[in-house]
Amino acid sequence: SKRTRLIAGNWKMNNDLNEAKDLAQALVAALPEIPEGVEVCVCPPTVDLRVVSCKGGVKESPIKLGAQNVYWEASGAYTGETSVAMLKSVPVEYCIIGHSERRDYFKETDEDENKKAKALIAGGIVPIFCCGESLETREAGEHVAFVTAQIKAGLEGVEISSGDQLVIAYEPIWAIGTGKTATADDAQEVCGAIRATLVEIFGQEIADGIRVLYGGSAKPENIAGFLEKEDVDGALVGGASLKADSFAAMVEKAG
Ligand code: G3H
Repeated sequence: SKRTRLIAGNWKMNNDLNEAKDLAQALVAALPEIPEGVEVCVCPPTVDLRVVSCKGGVKESPIKLGAQNVYWEASGAYTGETSVAMLKSVPVEYCIIGHSERRDYFKETDEDENKKAKALIAGGIVPIFCCGESLETREAGEHVAFVTAQIKAGLEGVEISSGDQLVIAYEPIWAIGTGKTATADDAQEVCGAIRATLVEIFGQEIADGIRVLYGGSAKPENIAGFLEKEDVDGALVGGASLKADSFAAMVEKAG
């Protein structure tokens, strides 16, 4: 596609400070250059952001930094939370929101994701907005309607002036960490429907610039098949982003 591909690594709740520093260094060494037309971002746990960012980390490389969560209020009595400005000061360029693990285990709602999306965009951080259906919803044949509704609710009233201010990640829940991937055609079906919804919300020109990623057991062996599809612009990678060699191999395959 005409869009710059994005390969984003979601480390989830893995790696303490030392491990995060080691993985960042290994990634910088494995990816001295990034193929043209590809952008790379890693999303470590909040406590690791600084060590991954600093000297010896991604600061000296083209690899960009993302966070895994944010709170929408600017500051104050919100124990345990992290603001947009705090992330921005690291500096962080991307932030995952709406991941199914946040929605399921921490009971986050479409309304919460909507507030996070608005706060991030206002603060100049690009949301990686996740959506995706359960196995039950897929087996009922309602996956497209479900994901489309998540996008509409999560992006209600969100305003952007260009497609590079927003990224969407389609992650079928049944494919996350299970080793079971969607087929490339499954991914295209939903990513195409997401794009059509983005056209309704933002108009053709902006929607054409928004990257839509696939996530769910993506790895070096299967990434190329997804990226061949018209509306799949990259991957949100969990397990395979925890090893520098497999993540670097995915970046190379995206080039
Ligand atoms: O955010 C990443 C996804 O949840 C995918 O995780 O690659 O381990 O299946 P996974």
